[in-house]
Amino acid sequence: MKATAIAPANIAFIKFWGKKDASLRLPYNPSISMNVSGCTTTTTVEFSKNFSSDSVSEGFNERRILDHIDRLRKIAGSKEKVKVITKNNFPRSAGIASSASGFAALTVAAAAALGLKLSEKELSTLARLGSGSACRSIPDGFVKWEGEYARSLYPPDYWDIRDVLVIVDTKTKKISSSEGHDRAETSPYFKKRLGHMPGRIARIEEALETKNFRLFGEVIEEECLDMHHVMQTQTPPLYYWSDQTTRVIKKVKSSGIPAYFTIDAGPNVHVLCEAKDEKRVMELFKNYKIIVNKPARGAYIL
Ligand code: DP6
Repeated sequence: MKATAIAPANIAFIKFWGKKDASLRLPYNPSISMNVSGCTTTTTVEFSKNFSSDSVSEGFNERRILDHIDRLRKIAGSKEKVKVITKNNFPRSAGIASSASGFAALTVAAAAALGLKLSEKELSTLARLGSGSACRSIPDGFVKWEGEYARSLYPPDYWDIRDVLVIVDTKTKKISSSEGHDRAETSPYFKKRLGHMPGRIARIEEALETKNFRLFGEVIEEECLDMHHVMQTQTPPLYYWSDQTTRVIKKVKSSGIPAYFTIDAGPNVHVLCEAKDEKRVMELFKNYKIIVNKPARGAYIL
């Protein structure tokens, strides 16, 4: 049987950094994100008795993908070989969470191709085992991951905001976020970060509930800088930023536009603004490669 799924990447407002259980990909703290409309993975999964071996599209991490397929094969009790064809519409390994959209699309397509009827909660739980942040690309819109799975806080049309992604570098990152997570506890600031979490999560939830964009912006910038501070003080230290990253941040901050930045595990900068300010932010970064994202639905079968 064969199925195709599409899944969005997501941008984390409250970030997942550090795993309480590495093999189960269980986080130390809850995280909150938004699915992004302009960065998606489309994956076709086919199982057949006629295939003599498993195959995965060139250029992807075959072992990690097949380990995930094995989890689903086990649930379905299938021994059939698989063919996985996957395609991103955005640069891979540039900190644009390709593992999130990738493992979300893979989970949904493989479950359908195996004839498994799984709930959103079960799909999110499974996607998490492939890549932590992938569990947040299953539910719609604005999403919270707490514990084993993620759920939707608000649908995509709840708040008309934009994520203008400023791409400064598309090179593959040298250290994957998976390796980085495992060293998070070595930062002297990691515990401090966790101490700030409950208050910070309460503030972002209030900002979302009341659509207070200024509070929202203040919290996402504080959280971004806090996570990167931990990354940079880990052993070995992780520097994901480039000179351009700082330049983009300064441009946002000196523009006078009510726009706020956040950055995941890479040098590219997500600039969040309200829909009314989209054109001004686009104008500000007209000399850069940008992707303008709206809040998006979660993974679905094509
Ligand atoms: C900085 O979900 O990519 O983007 O579970 O090892 O695949 P693995 O980690 P991953 O980590 C994402 C880290 C982050 C923050 C976030 O998206 O919450």
